[in-house]
Amino acid sequence: MTPLLKVGIAGTGSYVPEKVMTNGDYAKFLDTSDEWIRERTGIRERRFAPDGMATSHMAENAAKKAMEAAKVAPEDIDLVICGTVTPDNMFPSTACHLQHRLGCVKAGAFDLSAACTGFIYSLSVGWNMVRTGSVRNVLVIGAEKLSTLLNMQDRTSCILFGDGAGAAVVRPSENASEILFSSLHSLGGTEDIMSLPAGGSAMPASHSSVDGKHHYLRIKGREVFKFAVTKMVEQVELCAEKCGVPVSKIATIIPHQVNLRILEYASEKLNFPLDRMMINIDRYGNTSAASVPIALDEAVRSGRVKRGDLVVMVAFGAGLTWGSVAVRY
Ligand code: UT7
Repeated sequence: MTPLLKVGIAGTGSYVPEKVMTNGDYAKFLDTSDEWIRERTGIRERRFAPDGMATSHMAENAAKKAMEAAKVAPEDIDLVICGTVTPDNMFPSTACHLQHRLGCVKAGAFDLSAACTGFIYSLSVGWNMVRTGSVRNVLVIGAEKLSTLLNMQDRTSCILFGDGAGAAVVRPSENASEILFSSLHSLGGTEDIMSLPAGGSAMPASHSSVDGKHHYLRIKGREVFKFAVTKMVEQVELCAEKCGVPVSKIATIIPHQVNLRILEYASEKLNFPLDRMMINIDRYGNTSAASVPIALDEAVRSGRVKRGDLVVMVAFGAGLTWGSVAVRY
């Protein structure tokens, strides 16, 4: 049997649109306040992509930066994986749009749907394909335009989300960088907790689906809260155990930016300092599959994550899905 290759993250990139939507902007048309949103979620503002800017446009910007950082040319990319639940179209895949526009002339391309866990799932698939030798250079992306799914009259959900994209190039490693472990999980039958009912084959677009506002996302925030806290703690402990170190030896945790209170609670449970978690929810809100790769890229570019650091990425979302990746960055 061919031995498995050592695989690392060669470079990262991210992009958020310019338009800022503040908490105060919501208070102009909703029964809410900056104070409530900040205290209950940690969010101060988020970015919304303008009309005409699709998920693929944000992903394209992030991917270019990741390839540049990795010093990998588009024509050397073998596979494009795009984690998203807000694809440009039902088909062709957003990854195919990207393959074309980026000039990844020899690459295969597919989208991966795991909601907020989309980047973790995509990274895990990319890693395993490189380490078995099937492909060499994989462009892994998490990108979302969640603003298109928001019912702006539902104050319990519309204040939570934002738009953006993050990307990473995964390839055989020539330095200390090494992806060490990943773990993926799901629990179906939970669509009452989070779902987007219409627009697929179960409830195709129709006048009644639009009149009923079934094309907007629905969440039961309190249920998600309990689930997210439990899974975040479990996943971080699992990564540490599989890497053979105590949790305290993790240099940085890059969590899904779901709610600051969830991260604070997990930090306490794990006895892991909050300032060693990369947190940018105050600026971007929850960007679903884009949240982990945007935070990773910001941590790398700001010098918070350095080569050789043990980094744990962890996410949870609709499906339900959850998972983690441990990497010696
Ligand atoms: O990535 C996966 C998707 N992410 C999530 O699902 C987020 C996870 N959940 C959360 O972040 C929190 O559960 C929320 C931020 C969504 C809600 O916070 P909470 O502390 O769980 O509040 P709650 O749902 O228990 O609501 C408390 C009160 C309610 O009023 P009453 O019934 O006590 O009178 C809500 O109607 O707060 C009210 N409320 C609001 N008030 C002002 C809910 N949303 C708002 C709002 N502004 N935007």
